[in-house]
Amino acid sequence: MIVLKSPQEIERMKVSSQIVAQILDTVRQNVKPGVTTLQLDEVAESEALRLGAKAAFKGYSGYKHALCTSVNSQVIHGIPSRLKLVEGDILSVDFGILCDGFYGDAAVTIPVGSVSVSATRLLAATRESLYSAIEFARPGNRLSDISHAVQKYVESRGYSVVRDYVGHGIGRNLHESPQIPNYGLPGKGVRLKVGMVLAIEPMINEKGAAVMTLEDGWTTVTCDGGLSAHFEHTVAVTENGPIILTQL
Ligand code: MF3
Ligand code: CO
Repeated sequence: MIVLKSPQEIERMKVSSQIVAQILDTVRQNVKPGVTTLQLDEVAESEALRLGAKAAFKGYSGYKHALCTSVNSQVIHGIPSRLKLVEGDILSVDFGILCDGFYGDAAVTIPVGSVSVSATRLLAATRESLYSAIEFARPGNRLSDISHAVQKYVESRGYSVVRDYVGHGIGRNLHESPQIPNYGLPGKGVRLKVGMVLAIEPMINEKGAAVMTLEDGWTTVTCDGGLSAHFEHTVAVTENGPIILTQL
């Protein structure tokens, strides 16, 4: 069952989502060679506290941090650590908060200093695939129109879509129905309705699509060691089209 949100509830989700966006921006400003992902995690958590919000991932299935920080061939769920970032790395930062009963969720891949042309292209393609997909988050379209838009955009540029993880509905729970794959034929699945709020999150690999989870039980990496990027927005479906709640 997909829980529809009233305009008032969407306004409350916007408050949560804007806090996520602000904090991700603060994290971005702190990303530079020599900084550890644990330091970034501390920044995010203290900012959340300051803004009266709860870091959503901390305590989720026993996860111990505010951020997921995934470097280079790490796809998602990288655990903040004392390892220093190095010039040329790409860092995917995923962050969610709970505020006034509603969740917001977003992710961004950030270059550390100056990065290779191939990394820059991968980041741009993943970000643009998200925006092309968001265009389909309109009443009357089908769920897989979103999925197909991501796949079409990235595969035409030679990249692959991670199949093992998906986007999701979001609201009073971090993960709600429906699941939103980043691949598929258009015109399938549920019809999108006014009041749906969707966390759309392409995870895109430079080389093969295959991923695996490390011994720590969290960190998901590409099997072939290729780079991976991840962008996510929380998006409301309204009669006037998509509203990107986590857009700063
Ligand atoms: N950020 C993930 C999502 O977008 C959820 C992470 S849960 C955690 O759905 F426990 F890994 F933090
Ligand atoms: Co999400």
